[in-house]
Amino acid sequence: MNTTASSLHTDHGGTRAFSPVGIIWLKLAVVYLIIGVGMGIMMGASRDFTMRPVHAHINLLGWATMALAGLIYSVFPEAGLSKLARLHFWLANLSLPVMAVALGLVITGTTALVPVLAASEIVAALGILVFAANLFINLKAR
Ligand code: HEM
Repeated sequence: MNTTASSLHTDHGGTRAFSPVGIIWLKLAVVYLIIGVGMGIMMGASRDFTMRPVHAHINLLGWATMALAGLIYSVFPEAGLSKLARLHFWLANLSLPVMAVALGLVITGTTALVPVLAASEIVAALGILVFAANLFINLKAR
């Protein structure tokens, strides 16, 4: 069996590379992991846990959800290459940075940003709905 990094699993006796469509998701996810973990370490060191919800959302929406999307889109390239996947990508990746910054500012007193926070949360939720629709429509057994 070919064991190079690009041929990660076998299919019907042959070797086959994973689709590259998930790679951008996985690289962005690990950037969010670094930011989320950095915030966690800073909260622990300072004993100031105000940013706890920002930390949790960066880790769970940024790291966990995006890494899962990357893995799913790698294993099921029909879903990863669809128009819905492209829409999901932009909804998720435009909403989360805005949401994280707005949430951090709102919980530290800038309540004027509540509408921005709400709008970014709606866009993030739309991204999740598009993700769900994509999986229901485009995940097929091969
Ligand atoms: C080295 C890595 C990490 C450090 C140092 C860290 C640190 C922390 C700290 C100090 C808190 C606040 C605890 C408190 O208020 O008593 C917290 C809460 C939390 N963390 Fe992390 N964390 C890390 C990684 C992660 C990861 C990878 C995830 C998710 C994938 C995560 C999800 C959460 C959640 C859900 C909460 C609770 C938020 C809340 O109650 O509002 N953390 N973390």
